Amino acid sequence: MSARKVNVAIVGLGFGAEFIPIYQRHPNANMYAICQRTRKKLDAVGDAFGVQKRYTDFHKLLKDPKVDAVHINTPIPDHAWQSIAALKAGKHVACTVPMATSIADCRKIVDLVKQTRKKYMMMETVVYAREFLHLKELYQKGELGKIQFLQASHQQDMDGWPNYWPGLPPMWYATHCVGPMLALTRATAEYVSCFGSGTIRKELVKNYKSPFAVETAHIKFKGSDLTARIYRSLFDTARQYRESIDVYGSKKSFEWTLIEHEPHILHTAKLPEAKIPSKIKVPDYARLLPAPIRRFTTKGVYDLAKKTHLSFTQVARHGGSYPNLVH
Ligand SMILES: NC(=O)c1ccc[n+]([C@@H]2O[C@H](COP(=O)([O-])OP(=O)(O)OC[C@H]3O[C@@H](n4cnc5c(N)ncnc54)[C@H](O)[C@@H]3O)[C@@H](O)[C@H]2O)c1
Repeated sequence: MSARKVNVAIVGLGFGAEFIPIYQRHPNANMYAICQRTRKKLDAVGDAFGVQKRYTDFHKLLKDPKVDAVHINTPIPDHAWQSIAALKAGKHVACTVPMATSIADCRKIVDLVKQTRKKYMMMETVVYAREFLHLKELYQKGELGKIQFLQASHQQDMDGWPNYWPGLPPMWYATHCVGPMLALTRATAEYVSCFGSGTIRKELVKNYKSPFAVETAHIKFKGSDLTARIYRSLFDTARQYRESIDVYGSKKSFEWTLIEHEPHILHTAKLPEAKIPSKIKVPDYARLLPAPIRRFTTKGVYDLAKKTHLSFTQVARHGGSYPNLVH
């Protein structure tokens, strides 16, 4: 690990604010600046966490030569243009998902990374969640055997969410499903077939002209005998929140729990039928992290900011991935 500290600026302070105390405690980071449009919230977050450098204008932030890297947590339509502007300004970029909502913008970001030699990271939580880290460990140790099939789902009822959410086509935000499928086997997709299914209410359809309640896709992996299935729903489909990964191997298979917080299942081949499935608790991977940020795999930032009116969670969300993403 290099001794130099990276000056980080966080842009967007809803979800984004949860990362502030982690950067503040990371031995190689300096939590330098925060940015969001309304002064009142900017100051509330800045005061709660003791961050002095504050910007209400993203473009002014980019002009600050002290900023080495921006971590973007703004609404989905802003991810691509802000990533592009930041790379052009010579900053490294970490951006929450999705990277962009058009192939052209994804391409622009990839080309800019090549030109500028700056780093870009899509901050996909699932591939740093404890379930994924556990699967990766099982796979790398050979315990799963040969992987035969993978599937992932991300279902959420987004009714009542503001501005750009109503009617958002499910596959515009498919990274929590696509990410783990490709990351586990280090694969790229050769081709994809996607079907829409069902219909959402008329008032939702008009926003993106996309009628489907559920979208499901099969991905054929390049240079491999594998395919993966993914499915997503955001509106008018009854389902508790679920981000899931199932991996079927020749020796062992992992199936995500059907109900949140219940144990996941590990199936072991060639055992007596009743003994094939076992309920497992996935271990924590805090040991992969520098000591000062290990607590954030299980704990949220609530206790650090409870004197303010800001609302933060007490438990670490998204599989304890935030400190792993920061690291
Ligand atoms: N698991 C995950 O990966 C995960 C979880 C939650 C949220 N997210 C993503 O994080 C993003 C933010 O979600 P949220 O729930 O915090 O949204 P939010 O609407 O609560 O917050 C957005 C923030 O961005 C700021 N902002 C908006 N436009 C800006 C601009 N032009 N310049 C500077 N700041 C600007 C707003 O002031 C606000 O602080 C979304 O894209 C969402 O998809 C990802």
